[in-house]
Amino acid sequence: MEALATAAFLRAAAREGDLPSDGAVEIAFAGRSNVGKSSAINALAGRKALARTSKTPGRTQTINFYGLATGARLVDLPGYGYARVPQAMRERWRALVTAYLQSARGLAGVVLIMDARHPLTPLDEQLIAWLGDVPLLVLLSKADKLSRNAQGATLRSVQQRLRRHRVTLFSSVTRQGVEEGRDLLEQWLEAGPEIKGPR
Ligand code: GTP
Ligand code: MG
Repeated sequence: MEALATAAFLRAAAREGDLPSDGAVEIAFAGRSNVGKSSAINALAGRKALARTSKTPGRTQTINFYGLATGARLVDLPGYGYARVPQAMRERWRALVTAYLQSARGLAGVVLIMDARHPLTPLDEQLIAWLGDVPLLVLLSKADKLSRNAQGATLRSVQQRLRRHRVTLFSSVTRQGVEEGRDLLEQWLEAGPEIKGPR
């Protein structure tokens, strides 16, 4: 069985002290609130309800860890950019996500999920700049909501902007992009982190 298909919920971290520190290989899923991060984890793992999804933005408020049989982990990060979240809570999320990204020694790559209808918001750009050398897989989610022409135009413009990274159209409804995403994630899991030691 492929590693991704063995994912099982491990634990949720609500504060910095809850973050694991064993340096296991991890792939983190990041993106704005409601773009489909949890749905993408389910689609890529080939499971219906591994990660909780919701119509209400801001559903995932903790960092949720899913363990694979290999000892590696998938990490569902809380979404950013939801305007109706109180400022204090937004700051807590930012602090938690920053602490995670700084301490994740085994980070093999980040799956950045952006709604194909609204890619590259200022907060996405900030995260991309902040991640520096970490390999990115960019999923342009909810592609099923765009026409073929619009899909192609979006893919070209985002790929143009992020030349160093893999960009693909994605839909957890039609499963567009699922196989391609899986292939790359399985490669990341095998290769492990590119940057060894604390960043
Ligand atoms: P937060 O945890 O709140 O940040 O959200 P999230 O990014 O984890 O999004 P989630 O997976 O919970 O999905 C949000 C909503 O978008 C749900 O109503 C999903 O059913 C819907 N959704 C997710 N992916 C897709 C997709 O590919 N196509 C369509 N049409 N809807 C999707
Ligand atoms: Mg979620």
